[in-house]
Amino acid sequence: MIAPRGRIVFYAPAQRCGTGPMQYLLLPLQPRFALLTISAVATVVLSIALLTNVGATGLIAGSLVVSAVLAVVGVHDILQTKHAILRNYPISAHLRFLLEDIRPELRQYFFEGDKDGAPFPRDKRAIVYQRAKRALDKRPFGTQYNVYESRYEWLAHSMAPEALAKEPFRISIGGPHCTQPYSASLFNISAMSYGSLSANAIRSLNKGAKLGGFAHDTGEGSVSPYHREFGGDLIWEIGSGYFGCRTRGGAFDPAAFAKVAADPQIKMIEIKLSQGAKPGHGGVLPGSKVTEEIAGIRGVEAGLDCISPARHSAFTTPLELLAFIAELRRLSNGKPIGFKFCPGHPWEFMAILKACLETGITPDFIVVDGSEGGTGAAPLEFMDHVGTPLRDGLTFVHSALVGAGLRDRIKIGASGKIVSAFDIARALALGADWCNAARGFMFAVGCIQAQQCQTDRCPTGVATQDLTRQRAIVVPAKAERVASFHKETLKALAELIAAAGLTQPSDLSGHHFVHRASPDRTSTFAEFYKVLEPGELLMGKRAGLLFEAWDVARADSFLPQEMKSPQFVTVAAE
Ligand SMILES: Cc1cc2nc3c(=O)[nH]c(=O)nc-3n(C[C@H](O)[C@H](O)[C@H](O)COP(=O)(O)O)c2cc1C
Repeated sequence: MIAPRGRIVFYAPAQRCGTGPMQYLLLPLQPRFALLTISAVATVVLSIALLTNVGATGLIAGSLVVSAVLAVVGVHDILQTKHAILRNYPISAHLRFLLEDIRPELRQYFFEGDKDGAPFPRDKRAIVYQRAKRALDKRPFGTQYNVYESRYEWLAHSMAPEALAKEPFRISIGGPHCTQPYSASLFNISAMSYGSLSANAIRSLNKGAKLGGFAHDTGEGSVSPYHREFGGDLIWEIGSGYFGCRTRGGAFDPAAFAKVAADPQIKMIEIKLSQGAKPGHGGVLPGSKVTEEIAGIRGVEAGLDCISPARHSAFTTPLELLAFIAELRRLSNGKPIGFKFCPGHPWEFMAILKACLETGITPDFIVVDGSEGGTGAAPLEFMDHVGTPLRDGLTFVHSALVGAGLRDRIKIGASGKIVSAFDIARALALGADWCNAARGFMFAVGCIQAQQCQTDRCPTGVATQDLTRQRAIVVPAKAERVASFHKETLKALAELIAAAGLTQPSDLSGHHFVHRASPDRTSTFAEFYKVLEPGELLMGKRAGLLFEAWDVARADSFLPQEMKSPQFVTVAAE
């Protein structure tokens, strides 16, 4: 409105629409209420038309049903109290919920580039699908990476490549006290429980492991009948809930453990200390998901929350952890026993090494899980900002074992976004003896990264307990894909090793990989990720994080002795 003397006055909203009841009476005329108004008016008009029998009864009745349903939905939207957007935009705001629902699919199908997509970019997923289906896994034209960008990495090849290895690579896992060492593939299925994955997904993975001669980790939810159906090698994981080997009160039950561990299908036993995606955090399977079957498999009560505490009750100090390892080895008649963890405080791992030296007991293997690893469900803060990323954690564990003179007794497994042969080769160069993949094998079974694992509405039936959804997985076909993905990936690894002029995966070292730290500076992994000399930690004190951690670590506690340097506290806490 132009006020007298040419002054422009802006109306306040209350003035524009009227105040009090008037404001509400005018609402139906506002555009955001248009759909509701039209539906209501149409319902009235069409009802009158139907009652007065004006003809075209079928068409009118059909339209009346549609308008009446929309009117009811609209009125419900205005009155409900949960969603503000529906109260303000009745009917039309449902479109927003629909688009939100299909946003991941829209992004994936229409807008995602080959190097986009998280956590796994499109081309990483594609290579798994292609290798699983034995489709052509080659690319045309040249790399899409900007090779001069920081963080670009490459394998240094040889001018005299070796011939391709004929035999699939395997390693023997089992230290001096193990009487049933396991000859493991270099690439295995990482821990995922029945419960987080469907029965058909577990069946496909295990049958694939059987076909390809590699190992399948049960996850902490115990050994289910679906793990046993096809007889693929199993690594039995024991978490803090001791599922499958627990007393009624939730403590570790040695007799129940011995019974399960005697199964020849179980090749190794892995104590889960922590998981990269949520280290230091326990887990809960909600009571609604604890069916009679799952309760029976885990040894808990059906319908009640199934809790994995954040810490173990079977041991509280490094010395007790090693006594527990020795006990599991005795109870399993000498099978390899190890633990899986995501490194946190460096002195805690050093404390375990000091306990190893003090007692002479060593785990047969350690699996290092990076913070970039996957999970069925975890709090965002934990997923994004707790735990050490794989490369740093792996280098630390490898270096500490070398420095403590224990490396030759303990094998190291690595997991955390390892999908391609390059990922495996890089982990081997940083100190791993073998690698595990969880989500990579989920892709091989058909996972499309819809990220619905926690909702029980997995679109491909991989991570759900809904029987109608998991019927989508045809086990024999998917098992073939799991085996093919494994085989083709190891074939690609053999090609990389030959190209580097090597004959064995164990020959890969930090000297074979180059990292671009900035556009004009590169360094080999050997310069970037420093490793101690054999036995160096035992030879007296030197400056550096590992030496300081070693200094404060004590075998009888995970707590450090009094910290000496404030700088160390800062570095360790970072
Ligand atoms: C659906 C799902 C379930 C998992 N369940 C377990 C589990 O029971 N125990 C465990 O130690 N790790 C579990 N993990 C973590 C994986 O074993 C692995 O450590 C991590 O995902 C890193 O591998 P990735 O990056 O190849 O997925 C799970 C991961 C996923 C995706």
